[in-house]
Amino acid sequence: MRFDTIIKGGNVVTPLGTSVQDIGISGEKISAIGKDLEPQAGTKVIDARGHHVIPGVLDVHVHLELPFMGAVSADDYRTGTRAGARGGVTTVIDFAIPYAGDSLNDAADKWMKRAEGKALIDYTFHICITRFNEHKDQIKGMVDRGFTTFKEFMIYESEGWQSDDRALFGTLEKMKEYGTMLLVHAESSRVLDELIERHHTPELMKQYGARLHRMTRPNFIESEAIQRVVTWCEATGGQLYIVHMSTAQGTDIVKAAQARGVPVLAETCAQYLVLDDSVFDREDGHLFACCPQLKKPEDSERLWQGLKDGEVSVVSTDTCTFTREQKAMWNGDWTKIPMGLPGLETLLPVTYTHGVLKNRISLEEMVAKLCTNPSKIMGLYPRKGTIEVGADADIAIIHPEKTLKVDSETMETNADWSPFQGWDLAGFARTTLSRGDVIVDDYRVVGKEGRGQWLPRTSAGLQ
Ligand code: URP
Ligand code: ZN
Ligand code: ZN
Repeated sequence: MRFDTIIKGGNVVTPLGTSVQDIGISGEKISAIGKDLEPQAGTKVIDARGHHVIPGVLDVHVHLELPFMGAVSADDYRTGTRAGARGGVTTVIDFAIPYAGDSLNDAADKWMKRAEGKALIDYTFHICITRFNEHKDQIKGMVDRGFTTFKEFMIYESEGWQSDDRALFGTLEKMKEYGTMLLVHAESSRVLDELIERHHTPELMKQYGARLHRMTRPNFIESEAIQRVVTWCEATGGQLYIVHMSTAQGTDIVKAAQARGVPVLAETCAQYLVLDDSVFDREDGHLFACCPQLKKPEDSERLWQGLKDGEVSVVSTDTCTFTREQKAMWNGDWTKIPMGLPGLETLLPVTYTHGVLKNRISLEEMVAKLCTNPSKIMGLYPRKGTIEVGADADIAIIHPEKTLKVDSETMETNADWSPFQGWDLAGFARTTLSRGDVIVDDYRVVGKEGRGQWLPRTSAGLQ
């Protein structure tokens, strides 16, 4: 067999186990895994001795160039996918959101245009249903076009994105019918509105500033909404996926539902695993406003346990980058802070350093949560998320211990700050390959923007 590239002597994580192996790559695909693969004339040999070799990471929850809360998120397909590549990410899934008058097709077209010519890595989209009555008969057409995951928000009325119970129930029925999956942002809108209104006074804003974020989003805002949508999932049998789960109570609800055989899956995000709401006591605490809000250390511990035990299937980022200048729009009113954090560049380093190196999860469990599970759940397996013959040669090579200091000045993201500024993290990609191309070499991005491809899909969920 002719190899264009051989990755030599790394500690390779495959579905059959972890061991020192060579990986042969022919064209865009993995063509062999074995000991002592022989290079031919012209074969590029990448020395991976002393390194972990894992599948390229899938970040299945990102918002690039998102118009939101009067701003547009600051990482686009160029900077966002470069940032991802540096953190070993080789696939992103964004959310195509129909704005006023847009059909689901219009939304997909608009987001496709954002990515084309800019993306360094492969991508696709979840299709957001923002007006169920108008969009419900368009869902099947999107499935036929290669989109198998849909999304509804239980909040964001003022953005025009909010879905009510009727929409959630009706969409889950359609997911059951088409074998597709509904992702849900679960927060309880009416009680949240009430708590925000009660606190939205000049006196309280002066007294508490950005701390009002944590004061108005207690855990029951998330857990009530999860409980409710899980009920619709159980009633309809439609596959449900809770995005960015942040609470211990939500995790307990998902675990109990799964034990009853309810088809619900859940993801959390790196920030909910390693940050907590004490950040709002900082001078620059408003920078950390994201949605749902950061919670308590005990919530983080429960989420780690959920990853270990299985009720939490995926770690993603919910990347939605806003610069210091954009965040400054809040001007003392926490309801005006553009919500979201940068994250693509640090997903793997944070999960590896705080998960694997702290013995919370094994290397193989990390690969399951960052690569294999997201690929399977989002309908991309076995093309993505695994090191096996026939899969795309999407690979991240990381040093087991070497750390880099997080510094927004030297990062690929367009953010001029980082939630993890100054942290020493292992797990940045020394080398990233995407469909056989080296796109990160010696920790630097070398791949060409625009080479990323859209990934059509025919399935989703685990049912
Ligand atoms: O704070 C966040 N997450 N911003 C993006 C929108 C969302 O809810 O995912
Ligand atoms: Zn959300
Ligand atoms: Zn999101």
